[in-house]
Amino acid sequence: MIRSLIAGNWKMNGTTVMLSVVEEIVNGLKSRGDEADCLICPPATLLYALSDAATGTPLKSGGQDCHAELNGAHTGDIAAEMIADAGGQYVIVGHSERRADHGETSDDVRAKAEAAFRAGLTPIICIGETLEEREAGQALNIIAQQLAASLPDNDGDAGAVVAYEPVWAIGTGKVATTEQVDEVHTAIRKQLEERFGAKGAGMRILYGGSMKPENAGALLSLTDVNGGLIGGASLKAADFLAIYDAGISNL
Ligand code: 13P
Repeated sequence: MIRSLIAGNWKMNGTTVMLSVVEEIVNGLKSRGDEADCLICPPATLLYALSDAATGTPLKSGGQDCHAELNGAHTGDIAAEMIADAGGQYVIVGHSERRADHGETSDDVRAKAEAAFRAGLTPIICIGETLEEREAGQALNIIAQQLAASLPDNDGDAGAVVAYEPVWAIGTGKVATTEQVDEVHTAIRKQLEERFGAKGAGMRILYGGSMKPENAGALLSLTDVNGGLIGGASLKAADFLAIYDAGISNL
């Protein structure tokens, strides 16, 4: 049985006023029990405050990206160790917005995931095809290539989390169908098992892309969907908690 992870990616949204949303989420989780892991990855400026507010509660915190190096002359970047120092337990790497906006390659993503392990963080490694690639019938090939190149060989004691996020479903309101998600997640699971054996069978695979309370139940009920990576809907406590509920109702 794989423990689900419901993760919010706040992207570049939120100032300190959003700490009230954190409080609502924490209170919501307290009254719900602890059947799944719940995580928020806020902007870096909020990570320390969010981690502090989440201490001693079921809510976990994480970064949205990290640099591969431990320290050095990299203006504006954040080391994985800094995320851990600020209280984070996870870090998202290789999000399609980083791949597109910052030209990150799968080799870069693998180096970042290795840095996450070095710092004791769990990396959430994102992969996903563009609409053009899907329409050209290349979705599974692209995903297999990205997965192979982005995941470190030594996947750490805690193991990595993989997030399938079709680029065309992110922030567009266009959610992938359950058939599409099922096909991709099954292929990812097979590849993880082939590469990591029994450990690959236990790794979490999240779906991300316009996940909302209305569609979360169907997506999270698929065998190889072990949670969600949620953008827009994670900015509202009620929506995020409703997705969490949809996740645990399938356990
Ligand atoms: P949306 O849920 O806003 O589509 O974003 C998904 C995502 O990119 C999470 O990392």
